[in-house]
Amino acid sequence: MKQLIELEINGRAYEIPINPRDLLVDVIRKKVGLTGTKKGCGQGDCGACTVLIDGEPVLSCITLAIACQGKKITTIEGLAAADGKLHPIQQSFVDHGAVQCGFCTPGMILTSKALLDKNPKPSEDEIKRGIAGNICRCTGYKKIVEAVSAASETMSAEEVK
Ligand code: FES
Ligand code: FES
Repeated sequence: MKQLIELEINGRAYEIPINPRDLLVDVIRKKVGLTGTKKGCGQGDCGACTVLIDGEPVLSCITLAIACQGKKITTIEGLAAADGKLHPIQQSFVDHGAVQCGFCTPGMILTSKALLDKNPKPSEDEIKRGIAGNICRCTGYKKIVEAVSAASETMSAEEVK
């Protein structure tokens, strides 16, 4: 039995017919068509499916879409500026070679954004702790930590949020 729900994703309202048990990751990817959000383990272990809900990182593979009505959902597609200019964290990942296969990258960047929004100048240890729930099989994390650290400098200088 389908039910019509309204979700706000990246500042845009969507009316979507769903089953009450539909997971947020599947609704975002298959019904809204925003495939930047990745589905890895599907059981809350890898962080690939991370989106922001009201600014907090949330694992969309273990979150019911129906529970997200009335909340602000941000996916990786919502981070760049309207003119296509990358968000400083995205740019920093590119500049520092922190992207290889890219599968973990959307979740890693959104988790980093939530971290920097709360703690604009994190130490290396704080960055490591902040992204501890996001698994990367490719980069060895060093470049990711460097990218987040460099982004924090850029954002502090530009006061970009
Ligand atoms: Fe959600 Fe792995 S796909 S945590
Ligand atoms: Fe491949 Fe992180 S870049 S999993």
